[in-house]
Amino acid sequence: MTDATEPLPPPVGGGQSVIEKLTSLAKRRGFVFPSSEIYGGLNAVWDYGPLGVRLRRNVRESWWRRVVELRPDVEGIECAILMNPRVWVASGHVDAFTDPLVDCLGSCHMRWRQDQLEGDRCPHCGGPLSVVRRFNLMFKTFVGPVEDDSTRVYLRPETAQGMFVNFKNVLQSARQRLPFGIAQIGRSFRNEISPGNFIFRSREFEQMEMEWFCAPGEDEPWFEYWCHDQMEWFSQLGIRPENLRLRPHAPAELAHYALGASDIEYRFPFGWGELEGIARRGDYDLRRHQEVSGKDLAVPDPATGQPLLPFVVEPAVGVDRTALTVLLDAYAEEEVRGERRVVLRLAPSVAPYQVAVLPLSKHTDLVGPARAVEADLRRVLATDYDETQSIGRRYRRQDEIGTPLCVTVDFDSLSDRAATIRERDSMAQVRVGLDRLVEVCRERLGLEP
Ligand code: GAP
Repeated sequence: MTDATEPLPPPVGGGQSVIEKLTSLAKRRGFVFPSSEIYGGLNAVWDYGPLGVRLRRNVRESWWRRVVELRPDVEGIECAILMNPRVWVASGHVDAFTDPLVDCLGSCHMRWRQDQLEGDRCPHCGGPLSVVRRFNLMFKTFVGPVEDDSTRVYLRPETAQGMFVNFKNVLQSARQRLPFGIAQIGRSFRNEISPGNFIFRSREFEQMEMEWFCAPGEDEPWFEYWCHDQMEWFSQLGIRPENLRLRPHAPAELAHYALGASDIEYRFPFGWGELEGIARRGDYDLRRHQEVSGKDLAVPDPATGQPLLPFVVEPAVGVDRTALTVLLDAYAEEEVRGERRVVLRLAPSVAPYQVAVLPLSKHTDLVGPARAVEADLRRVLATDYDETQSIGRRYRRQDEIGTPLCVTVDFDSLSDRAATIRERDSMAQVRVGLDRLVEVCRERLGLEP
């Protein structure tokens, strides 16, 4: 049985924005909660609930598999969040990782990033603005009991520097040769002046970064390669290609370390925005670490044997921002037989659950067989089980959290040894023998047998 579906018209004036709807769905269903909410939260810091954790793990695992596991030429590392503070002097973050900050001198006293303003008045109350101050985005703390300049350390604002300072360690221990990459997934912290748009820009977030080391002169083709590779990865996550674009940076936009860069942008409800940054960092980082640490970071040129400092291409993307993008791209509202249905059309590779097992009722005759089906599926697929409320409401809940398949065990199952598989997107239903359930579910999810 298939229900006809049609998209609802966009909300008219005064309706909730998609971001607001998603924020509320995320909290209600257990994807994302405001951090320490019972104390009023902490601005731009978020906690992930049971479904959010599953979604984020899927995003991370997909990236790690593509960028590290499936490649013989990329090694993974995990570095501490706290690093010797000289790292951040060498990298340029102590001097250059700043945003221009202005305060409203009118009635509202709000704080703004001057480079994001269109005029020279406060966008909120129209008041005059203060002179521009440079504000360093790194969070600071102290190591040991004494709190002074000599004990100050930073929470890392990017994971990338861990790869540069361990470049020789990895090269030697993993016996790699140019070109090769070092990748890491981990937390980063930035004291953003204007965080917001839910988990798009937060103060604590997670990055997936890879530093690709190659001979100077070979970085331009590798840059093209990694731009293409990462665009493909987003398609693999199910993000619609028409909502993605690759935008080269204008020279004035380039970060202090970059010879060139492009952003993979997504068409967010608030406009095109950066999803991933891909940069040509030249030998900036290794050269600076060599100068400041006094350690030789050169390697033999694979062609001539002469010492050289490799050039670097860096794809850098946020786990949280990718999770937000995946959710936004999947969010849809439809009318089904006169009722509104909210559905997350998540790809099976990222959905928190791939299949949900639903006994038609809580009748004890059904619960046993349904639990047996669940146990079978759970061994190989991310499986949910739900026996509360009416079957219609349970389907709606699974639609709203993006579960691609529901398996319903009913009274006929007791005699025909079969169950009904219902597909999220088409809502089509098919009857399948219990002995073939795992195989048919895997096939419908596009997984190998
Ligand atoms: N190592 C280079 C680097 O960190 P970036 O463009 O500043 O480059 C890379 O950050 C990615 O990290 C961004 O494209 C975004 O996905 C994510 N990201 C950066 N700042 C973020 C924030 N405040 N909140 C959430 N994600 C952030």
